[in-house]
Amino acid sequence: MLRFMLPAAVLLSAMTMAMPAPSSAAESIELESTAIELPYGDMEFPPGPGVDAVKRNCIFCHSAGMVLYQPALSKSAWTKIVDKMIDVYKAPISPDDVPEIVDYLMHIRGAE
Ligand code: HEC
Repeated sequence: MLRFMLPAAVLLSAMTMAMPAPSSAAESIELESTAIELPYGDMEFPPGPGVDAVKRNCIFCHSAGMVLYQPALSKSAWTKIVDKMIDVYKAPISPDDVPEIVDYLMHIRGAE
């Protein structure tokens, strides 16, 4: 029995010593409100033909900024990205929406 009691007593006294005195803890806490601005969390897709299909399909996994911060890309590059969202990331995008989405992406970030 004593073999169990001794380590327990040592542990208990170590725990009590580790606890800070209540008065000093209360004096040292100061709360302050801080606002941070994330770089593109609140970006929105600019208006244009097909914007509704894009808003319907492209902003429930990541922000619009994920798309708007891409460089201008060719039509085949945008098509590959949209296909990747569907095939790799399993985005539930109707195939009927894909041409409209790609046209919109070309409209805002298209390159030859
Ligand atoms: C099912 C979730 C999902 C949906 C819906 C989705 N994406 Fe993505 N997307 C991802 C993931 C996951 C990444 C990779 C994120 C990372 O790398 O941090 C990504 C990354 C991207 C990128 C960055 C470039 C790249 O190739 O990784 C672009 C551009 C993009 N998505 C465009 C779109 C467009 C356009 C749509 C709508 C047609 C869309 N996404 C819909 C999940 C999704």
